[in-house]
Amino acid sequence: MLKFDFTNAFGENLSDGVRYEDIKGITGRLHAFLENFRQNPPGFAKVFNDQSHIDSILEMAEKCKHFENFVLVGIGGSALGNQAIQGALRHPMWNNLSREKRNNLPRFFVMDNVDPEQIGSILDVIDPAESLFNVVSKSGSTAETMSNYLIVRGLLETRGLNPRDHLVFTTDPVEGVLRKIAIDEDIPVLDIPPNVGGRFSVLTSVGLLSAASLGVDIKKMLDGAQEELDRFKEEDDTFKNPVLLNAAIHYLYSQKGKSISVMMPYSNALYTLADWYRQLWAESLGKEKSLTGETVHAGQTPIKSLGTIDQHSQVQLYMEGPNDKVITFLKVENFRRNLKIPVIHQDRKELSYLCGHELEELINYEQEATSLALLEHGRPNLTISFESIDEVEIGRFFGYYEILVTAMGHLYNINTFDQPGVELGKKNTYALMNRKGYENQKAHIEDLKKNLKIFKI
Ligand code: PA5
Repeated sequence: MLKFDFTNAFGENLSDGVRYEDIKGITGRLHAFLENFRQNPPGFAKVFNDQSHIDSILEMAEKCKHFENFVLVGIGGSALGNQAIQGALRHPMWNNLSREKRNNLPRFFVMDNVDPEQIGSILDVIDPAESLFNVVSKSGSTAETMSNYLIVRGLLETRGLNPRDHLVFTTDPVEGVLRKIAIDEDIPVLDIPPNVGGRFSVLTSVGLLSAASLGVDIKKMLDGAQEELDRFKEEDDTFKNPVLLNAAIHYLYSQKGKSISVMMPYSNALYTLADWYRQLWAESLGKEKSLTGETVHAGQTPIKSLGTIDQHSQVQLYMEGPNDKVITFLKVENFRRNLKIPVIHQDRKELSYLCGHELEELINYEQEATSLALLEHGRPNLTISFESIDEVEIGRFFGYYEILVTAMGHLYNINTFDQPGVELGKKNTYALMNRKGYENQKAHIEDLKKNLKIFKI
């Protein structure tokens, strides 16, 4: 089980903090959320123990495994979960390992940004004839994903390869152009459950095909998520329910002006989880309007940080800069491998405290040292511990955070599941790229630009 230590977040232990009584003050709202969740679970919570979609994913993964390269084409919620899983569970130098050391499984690449240098560099090192391209887009209309798809498709066609043999689409069961192409051209396709939004879709076909194709036990991940869901649903006591308590702490601190939420894993493997978390927290909670129409500008800015590296970069600011953050540490109790620091220079007392110790011990003491120092500076922080990094714990983490962000949305009284704020930027892109139907938006942009005072050097 994930373990939660909220000690350093309680006002009883640091000045001007959220206290036990403050949390008791909102238990009615927390319990309303719990009850509502029990009665009407959101779409994402229904897939954790729905084995029906697993078989088609596993079947498809068997085909994908034979390729030398698995290339994920997607962005945002259609890429970050895949990267989080691979970052946590695969060897950090996976693509550099020999095929034998990779247990005959594919290398893994992600085409997300439309940075021509980045995309070009991936194409430099993969042979399309040996590659499987998994194009993931729920809407089938995301400009970045669709342009990368077109590039890949062009490449396959130029090389005389049959697109059907090298493409798998993951998309909405009915809507969108990818679905239409899949039907018209008989391209293999997996469904994304319509009631699961992009950033909540890591434990659907969106994140699980690449995972299974690279040897991750996806059933164990789903079991982990389901365990966290059960733990949440079965516990009425706010102070024993890690979702309710963490939501209360983050919400109450944000009401006290702590507008930043830092996630700081002390583990390189967990760093990509922090990327996934950033999207989940930002897009779900950053909202202008409440559910009842008031202007609220809700949300907390999520920041990712890496221990111990950022002790030498960011922690000075966290310690002495504006007291506007809640910091969540991710800690690993048992690393998958450990290194002993050799006993050398025994006569040098500047080094002797390190000699004979293990890196696991050092990194975990550094985490504890930082959390206590932050406490002494009046900076609230909490620690989530992974027993070790494996499929079950990673699944628990995803399940836990998806429920947690939903609880936060309830407390903010906003719609956790939409993202109206990104629509205008998309419309502007379509207009600037002269997409048909966006002529009025183009005229609007031209007017807007005409009336701007220009400050360019
Ligand atoms: O959370 C979301 O809904 C978004 O971040 C989407 O995942 C992202 O925009 C990609 O969308 P799509 O899967 O439709 O290409």
